[in-house]
Amino acid sequence: MDSIKIEGGVPLKGDITIGGAKNAALPLMTASLLTAEPLTLVNMPDLADIGTLSKLLRHHGTRVDQSAIGAGHESGDAGATGQTMTLTADRITDLTAPYDLVRRMRASVLVLGPLLARMGEAKVSLPGGCAIGSRPVDLHLKALEQLGAKIDVREGYIYASATGGLKGAKVTFPKVTVGGTENLLMAAALAKGETLLENAAREPEIGNLAECLNAMGADITGIGSGTLRIKGVASLHGARVAVIPDRIETGTYAIAGAITRGRVTLKGTRYDLLESVFTSLRQAGVEVEDTKDGIVVSARNGIRGVDVATDPFPGFPTDMQAQWMALMATADGASMITETIFENRFMHVPELARFGADVNVHGASAIVRGRKKLSGAPVMATDLRASSSLVLAGLAASGETVINRVYHLDRGYERLEQKLAACGARIERVSPG
Ligand code: EPZ
Repeated sequence: MDSIKIEGGVPLKGDITIGGAKNAALPLMTASLLTAEPLTLVNMPDLADIGTLSKLLRHHGTRVDQSAIGAGHESGDAGATGQTMTLTADRITDLTAPYDLVRRMRASVLVLGPLLARMGEAKVSLPGGCAIGSRPVDLHLKALEQLGAKIDVREGYIYASATGGLKGAKVTFPKVTVGGTENLLMAAALAKGETLLENAAREPEIGNLAECLNAMGADITGIGSGTLRIKGVASLHGARVAVIPDRIETGTYAIAGAITRGRVTLKGTRYDLLESVFTSLRQAGVEVEDTKDGIVVSARNGIRGVDVATDPFPGFPTDMQAQWMALMATADGASMITETIFENRFMHVPELARFGADVNVHGASAIVRGRKKLSGAPVMATDLRASSSLVLAGLAASGETVINRVYHLDRGYERLEQKLAACGARIERVSPG
């Protein structure tokens, strides 16, 4: 199993190109199940999770053709990014998403809405628990039932059917759910009549999916708001759609610049995708400038402690909470970090403590008392974003850090070592034997 070795303490300086968003790319890929025509996605990131979902979609009968633009891993060119993927589901050959493929990645449950809408039937494994919380899919299922689906959960599988087709309805989510909104959007696109979706998630990735569905012939309005109106259509066609930049990758590298007291320029990304984090960074004393050459982040005057609480978009993203904690561990003064989305998303705390970070968890909040110095340590990655907080702490710490179980990082960060090394970080991947 690979590990990552970092010699910390180098202020990062340089440009980092941000790739396409994992959490936009995954639902866009499942949208290909809604049509027999090819769906082409550009600016696709090259990540383990994309490979996992490609495998599942192939299992359903989708043809997945991929071509790299730019150099990718082999050339070591840290600037190159983006792949093009064409998905063609002209014939759905299997309606079951098996446990073995779904358990590796929860987003696999996003095949449910499209399969049900197009084929009137689907059998999808329940994803099971994960490191950050229990993460049920009950809200996806209730919403699909409101569109007329018959749902039965047994033997670890969701059996869904809609023999006469799905029918539009008014659906109000009792809680904001990103995946639930995505599954319902895709199902409602092919339902008979109109669906009004209230308390929908407003994450930019939802906007990307809704725009893609419209490019495929769907009729969705209210994009970007919490109320989506979907007029069902009889069929959808192919399209060519660009994946939006990854806002969490953007935020992670912004913090890499700040935590090393360096200066990085983030290219190929958008300020509006991550305003909440940039606002908190400014409050902490970090300079953030949205220029025509990219977003410039520099931290020459130290970091102050700033409280944050995670919230659905446009609030502070839960996927940036662990990275923020690493930054706050190096700040002047204390800060409070509150996690409101997931019930168990402080797995990084004991690992950050190994760097000397002073963090106390009280229920859903953590008090972080900043330290002048962190020191490198061997640590263990527990989930994707927790892993990136360990990389950040390692970049800031003096001495050597070794991060084990980096397969978590490979799920969501493309060429992380190359991107950081291009800004002066002393970081390398170590493969056993
Ligand atoms: C998406 O997960 C992201 N994943 C997550 O990113 C992200 O943390 C999360 O949204 C919140 O922003 C993808 O987009 C692939 P939710 P999702 O449904 O859709 C509860 C990463 O690191 N809930 O918005 O699964 C749920 O347990 C990942 O890239 C129910 O109770 O999140 C959670 O507490 C991690 N019942 C809350 O709602 C349901 O049926 C929000 O979950 C659905 C959700």
